[in-house]
Amino acid sequence: MMRSHNCGELRLTDTTKIVTLSGWVQRSRDLGGMTFVDLRDRYGITQLAFNMETNKDLCMQARELGREFVISAKGEVVERSSKNKKNPTGEIEIVVQEFSILNVSKTPPFTIEDDTDGGDDLRMKYRYLDIRRNPVRQNLVLRHKMAIEIRNYLNNIEFIEVETPVLIKSTPEGARDFLVPSRMNAGQFYALPQSPQTFKQLLMVAGMDRYFQIVKCFRDEDLRADRQPEFTQIDCEMSFVTRDDILETFEGLAKHLFKVMKGIESITFDRMSYADAMKYYGSDKPDTRFEMRFTELNEQAQNKGFKVFDDAELVAGINATGCAEYTRKQLDELTEWVKRPQIGAKGLVYVKYNADGSFKSSVDKFFNQEQLKDWAIAMNAQPGDLLLIISGNTDPTRKALGELRLEMGKRLGLRKPDQFSCLWVVDFPLLEWDEEAQRYFAMHHPFTSPLPDDIEMLSTDPGKVRANAYDLVINGVEIGGGSIRIFDKDLQAKMFEVLGFSAEEAKAQFGFLMDAFQYGAPPHGGVAFGFDRWCSLFGGSESIRDYIAFPKNNSGRDVMIDSPSPVDIKQLDELGLKLNPATKS
Ligand code: AMO
Repeated sequence: MMRSHNCGELRLTDTTKIVTLSGWVQRSRDLGGMTFVDLRDRYGITQLAFNMETNKDLCMQARELGREFVISAKGEVVERSSKNKKNPTGEIEIVVQEFSILNVSKTPPFTIEDDTDGGDDLRMKYRYLDIRRNPVRQNLVLRHKMAIEIRNYLNNIEFIEVETPVLIKSTPEGARDFLVPSRMNAGQFYALPQSPQTFKQLLMVAGMDRYFQIVKCFRDEDLRADRQPEFTQIDCEMSFVTRDDILETFEGLAKHLFKVMKGIESITFDRMSYADAMKYYGSDKPDTRFEMRFTELNEQAQNKGFKVFDDAELVAGINATGCAEYTRKQLDELTEWVKRPQIGAKGLVYVKYNADGSFKSSVDKFFNQEQLKDWAIAMNAQPGDLLLIISGNTDPTRKALGELRLEMGKRLGLRKPDQFSCLWVVDFPLLEWDEEAQRYFAMHHPFTSPLPDDIEMLSTDPGKVRANAYDLVINGVEIGGGSIRIFDKDLQAKMFEVLGFSAEEAKAQFGFLMDAFQYGAPPHGGVAFGFDRWCSLFGGSESIRDYIAFPKNNSGRDVMIDSPSPVDIKQLDELGLKLNPATKS
């Protein structure tokens, strides 16, 4: 028998039992008369005790055990004299009677402790050792629990999981595809799916009614803390539904997850239009854990002789409550902060609403106390508050002010990690204009239905058409997105036309979907959630990498298996591919 118990389960009630445990040597301490070894497995750590007096040979052997050796030990469970209340097994230890070394180990390149001394790169290279650490293992357990809960919840409401292919067809829309050359069809390529979008729609035509899949998706795009080139979606689609049916169904799923994963019994979901999200928060994924909404000040602040404001499309500000005491140095630092290229503001105007009711601003030359008071009233400010104002063209001003809002929220401790604010952002624009390509692109994807009221504008003013699309935003993170789909082949053809596809191009790219729509496609819609993002939201770490067993680094590399890597020239020959000498490594 390799083990009778695991390393996390023995308690005081087990004393006198003879048990066998197997695991890894976390650390050993030689105290002269006694040697203690902490034995670790997935379930916990149990202390093994070796007594020099009663079993000298065994104790001598135990002293030779290196970190991460794999051993199996048999002995009696006894009550410990000095108990460790922090460890669930800390009231007992095993007085070892015999043990065997199952495998030796090199000294690991970093400590296998909660707070390790290993840097990111090293931990990724030896990810299998990293996963031995509690925090990483717990993240994977959380991910597993989430997946089980999601499957059970959706199964209970008639969703069925259907697997869709991974070798599919490249499409020009969306992010860049990962391509896979076909040996049997030389010169042709599969693409890895950016999402199973078209397949789930075909499954609706196929009458599956309610589909879901926890599925790998692949996008060749720039990486960030919340983006991986391969990531996992909870992908869902439903037939015979309106937008509200979908939002309610998945609020149900989200509420269930909040309950079982976080113990949160009641959570509300707000809805906000895209237009309002941009107007009041400067972002299509606002962090609504705190208010600090924008106030537009064009009326109060323009035409008073301050050219910067007079020339601006938008003058808008936020009220940093209680910050009137900010020093000159702090305000200068904040001004430099908004002027950084990532934020892009040209400058920052501040107004301190002093405790005595007077105002001190960076534009005192242009505005008198009465005028500044007007701003304060518009911004609902009280004595003690600080008004921060940015101006310029509408979009960049909103973006910069949105970043400043988040930064102030952070500095003021308003973005609490244990607080959750859920928001559906709805009515996105259907299209966005691309200056470089001189054409419209679908903001979500080309199968998204316009809002019924806006369909007519597709021919007259496509840029103004709103989509029947929605994103789920939690604490400023886009957790999911979806839409009601076009299910009418003529409307779909019109959409391709607006996107600049000729009839032939549309047929070549999406003919299969248009064909399917001729055979009684039901009204349908769906949503996909970023599973990794949801895990990181619940787990509390900002990087989704912490919830992926074997993630890629920021250059898209798996440093453990050293991928991507060059391939044998013969493999390329077989695929009919030639290596560009310039890129040969
Ligand atoms: P979308 O492109 O919005 O929609 O993707 C859905 C969700 O997937 C997550 N996500 C990512 N997570 C990690 N790394 C990435 N590179 C990454 N890209 C996206 C986000 C996002 O909200 N087919 C549509 C859904 C639909 O219409 O039903 C789609 O893929 O959390």
